[in-house]
Amino acid sequence: MPHDHTAAAEAIAQVEEYLRGQENKDLLRFITCGSVDDGKSSLIGRLLYDCKLLFEDQLASLEKDSGRFGTTGSGKLDLALLVDGLAAEREQGITIDVAYRFFTTDKRKFIVADTPGHEQYTRNMATGASTADAAVLLVDARKGVLTQTRRHSTIVSLLGIRHVVLAVNKMDMVDWDRAVFERIADDYRAFAHGLGIRDVACIPVSALTGDNVTTPSANMDWYKGPTLLAQLETMEVSSDALNRPFRLPVQWVNRPDQHFRGFSGTIAGGTVRPGDPVAILPSGRTTTVSRVVTMDGDLEEGVADQAVTLVLAEEVDVSRGDVIAAADARPEVADQFAAHIVWMSEQPLLPGRSYLLRLGTSTVGAQVTELKHVLNVNTQEHVAAKHLDLNAVGLCNVALDRPVPFDAYADNRATGSFVLIDRISNATVGCGMIDFALRRASNIHWQPMKVDKAARGALNGQKPCVLWFTGLSGSGKSTIADLVEQELHRRGRRTMSLDGDNVRHGLSRDLGFTDEDRVENIRRVSEVAKLMVDAGLIVLVSFISPFRSERRTARELMEQGEFLEIFVDAPLEVCEARDPKGLYRKARAGQLPHFTGLGSSYEPPEAPELHLNSADETPERLAARVVAALEERGMI
Ligand code: ADX
Repeated sequence: MPHDHTAAAEAIAQVEEYLRGQENKDLLRFITCGSVDDGKSSLIGRLLYDCKLLFEDQLASLEKDSGRFGTTGSGKLDLALLVDGLAAEREQGITIDVAYRFFTTDKRKFIVADTPGHEQYTRNMATGASTADAAVLLVDARKGVLTQTRRHSTIVSLLGIRHVVLAVNKMDMVDWDRAVFERIADDYRAFAHGLGIRDVACIPVSALTGDNVTTPSANMDWYKGPTLLAQLETMEVSSDALNRPFRLPVQWVNRPDQHFRGFSGTIAGGTVRPGDPVAILPSGRTTTVSRVVTMDGDLEEGVADQAVTLVLAEEVDVSRGDVIAAADARPEVADQFAAHIVWMSEQPLLPGRSYLLRLGTSTVGAQVTELKHVLNVNTQEHVAAKHLDLNAVGLCNVALDRPVPFDAYADNRATGSFVLIDRISNATVGCGMIDFALRRASNIHWQPMKVDKAARGALNGQKPCVLWFTGLSGSGKSTIADLVEQELHRRGRRTMSLDGDNVRHGLSRDLGFTDEDRVENIRRVSEVAKLMVDAGLIVLVSFISPFRSERRTARELMEQGEFLEIFVDAPLEVCEARDPKGLYRKARAGQLPHFTGLGSSYEPPEAPELHLNSADETPERLAARVVAALEERGMI
């Protein structure tokens, strides 16, 4: 629905426009959680409507729509239509439904992120809540605190929101009964306490009749607290973004001419003034700020959320992805950390798989090296798991390709959170909150070697490389690789063969055939193949290696031109008819549940260096083609 997307984009642009130039203290960002059945949309609609803050045209179209689709009966406005109509596709690759609305009273300005209550709630909430100061959780007075309420609260607390309003809705349906309300409020307070949420305000409301939404209820005079709006207007959420140490993730180096060199980005915490000592991370160089420049001239002070360009006193090396930080309160710089990851993709997160990680303005390769546990968001239990499924939350150790600057999420949400991107599809597949840096390997350095790969290769009279044979079981990988190796050997070339069936007797003896085990299997073999290339050998790797992602990671481990992907292609029927080890028969009989091509997928290469059709040609001819390809490339 392109129309909706445009509308959503416009709404977001309006909100952002509106935010510009607003002082932080006037603004409360909150998220609403609850399902349609709880009356969430009606509640937000009521807030917006009662505050008379709708745009005229929105109101007009609402009146029209209510007549057509409304569920409230003729003549009344269906406030739910107002909120449900907005859905934003914020990230490439996945649909995230978060509707942002803004409204204002004379006390405060508000941005409300509304996320639908269906089962994609985790990723939607993670998006909507990442900038929120407070959460309004809705429960139905007739039902009380449900599993869903507990889930939402867990995610809210995980995302660092410390202020919760529990709106106990549909009080009209329980005869405005004080005992009902108090039981629910006590229940919830006890639960929230366990999550570390200290600030909980419980309010009995009726979104339908408006009681205690913006005006005090005449039906519940036993309730002495504030209305929902009054609570939102007065709650203390002291956004301490300004009191945090200064952080500027550098977005770009601004160099219009020789006379000006500045570093631009949005301040992710704290304040900055000319004369402030700063450190550039990860290099650690220090200098002072000489100017804080904006579109509207120089500032005496730049504050969190402002887009600025810093001019530094000295000529120092700064590039995109670096962080300029308070010299006396620097971020961590490390290539490993522990983080909670919220998974957002249908394809599970597999430890060992390489993803791109975007943190602030830097993008690095990243792998989950250990999935410590998955959080049961209903019970808070820690559950052992091998992978993370859609909407799951897991505590993970993450290893990066190089050290980057970051903070713990608890200290700074902007410099302590990241997204994970799939390398093949480029889609955002997860988001994470950093708990702490891991220092395990920080005292390990690269040891320089005088005799290197080129020297070893030269002594062998060859250019070391990897011939990576991939294909279904029974496609002929090992047979062809063996023939190629015999020919190379005959010509006096130094080779080594790594074969799936053989390596699985030793190095990968502990691995089976689940997706996560195959990822780990290929990771190990890739590393071994790299060592062997360093040893100056021509390495023949014959593994099913069913996933594009891991083959690509293997390729990227090697230097340009060192990796030849050879697709040994035969239709499944042909491989099954050959069935050299009787495994297809077993798989068909249900004894091998994850057999490639049957119970487990094979992703054929998209651009292999060689594509061998093993159904139509003999292994000898195909082996000859491989040798010829090596000659053509000057490898032998
Ligand atoms: S890979 O997927 O991790 O690359 P690998 O090449 O090491 O697989 O091992 C494949 C070999 O293991 C096959 O040639 C076959 O002999 C054997 N095997 C046993 N079970 C399976 C299975 N479920 N799927 C694929 N191969 C299996």
